[in-house]
Amino acid sequence: MESTSVKQLLQQKPKADLGFYPTPFYQLKNLSKQLGVTLFIKREDFSGQSLFGGNKIRKLEYLIGDAKEQGAEYIFTFGATQSNHAMQTVEACRKEGLTPVLYLVAYVEPDENDLRSNLLLDRILGVEVHVILKNPGESDAEVDARSVKLAREHMARLIEEGHKCCEIPMGGASPIGTTGFIDGFVELAEQAAACDQQFDYLVHATGSGGTMAGLVAGKKLLDHPMRILSFDVIGHDASYLENSAALGNKSLEQLGVSEQLTVDDFEHDNNYYLPGYEMPSDAANDAIRLLAREEGLFLDPVYTGKAFAGMLDYIRKGIIPQNSSVIFLHTGGATALFAEKEILGNLLDS
Ligand SMILES: Cc1ncc(COP(=O)(O)O)c(C=O)c1O
Repeated sequence: MESTSVKQLLQQKPKADLGFYPTPFYQLKNLSKQLGVTLFIKREDFSGQSLFGGNKIRKLEYLIGDAKEQGAEYIFTFGATQSNHAMQTVEACRKEGLTPVLYLVAYVEPDENDLRSNLLLDRILGVEVHVILKNPGESDAEVDARSVKLAREHMARLIEEGHKCCEIPMGGASPIGTTGFIDGFVELAEQAAACDQQFDYLVHATGSGGTMAGLVAGKKLLDHPMRILSFDVIGHDASYLENSAALGNKSLEQLGVSEQLTVDDFEHDNNYYLPGYEMPSDAANDAIRLLAREEGLFLDPVYTGKAFAGMLDYIRKGIIPQNSSVIFLHTGGATALFAEKEILGNLLDS
């Protein structure tokens, strides 16, 4: 399909006007020279709507647009206490006149007397926040499920009182949210085409999977040759790609197209997330310092730092060959640079 046809399909979807697009796209000249590849960056961290933008805004344009069309008053969403998605959902709700409610799991327990990062912004935004502490012996999946159960009980009470509630899953990873990155891939493909050069790889961090599913679906629709390398920051099992393909497929179906994804459409790497989600790695912190010192811009320790570290390792090992052209999708998350020490690690080590 041509990008104009995909854009026509996207225009039929309800959408809130939250970000500023297209986001900047340009070459990182110092690092390109140092690494022996042509390295471009796509600044989704500049998406708006506040200083603390990121990849969630594109998803939220469609999610909030849809929620408003359904007549929602309350938006419930989920994440970790330092969730970028949760904070950005609150920003979007404030702009669009909806009432947000957050159910946040404390993988890292916040200090109520010294609130940091997104949780601090949540409180400034004045949102109702329910912090769910992990019970002894409770797994991440169990506490996530408990958080959703509590939120649904809360929603049921509001619905009984006559209110209209809408639930947005963690990370905005629904078929509607995923549409945002079909849109994002089309925008990127147009910017890449205007550069008059072929790009070999698109590199990004994957968490809930919505960004990855949308990008891969966009690539499929345009039949684009660029390879998409998705670096996992959580550490998922084998079901992840099946679920992501299903997510992309529902999103494609909602656009009324017949293209479908399979697990073979994904290039997913699970080797760079350790020691775990929201746990710092030396390689990510090295990557944060490298980009700051060579190009004067910031990654974050939870998402972009780990994906950038994966990309550097691929280049150094020749998995991404010398003289390749690579795009790094900066998905935001810079507020984590002001998070708890457990999340940051030793950023100033060298
Ligand atoms: C900064 C940042 N980068 C990447 C991601 C991963 O995006 P997704 O959840 O769509 O996989 C997230 C998700 O929270 C994020 O906040």
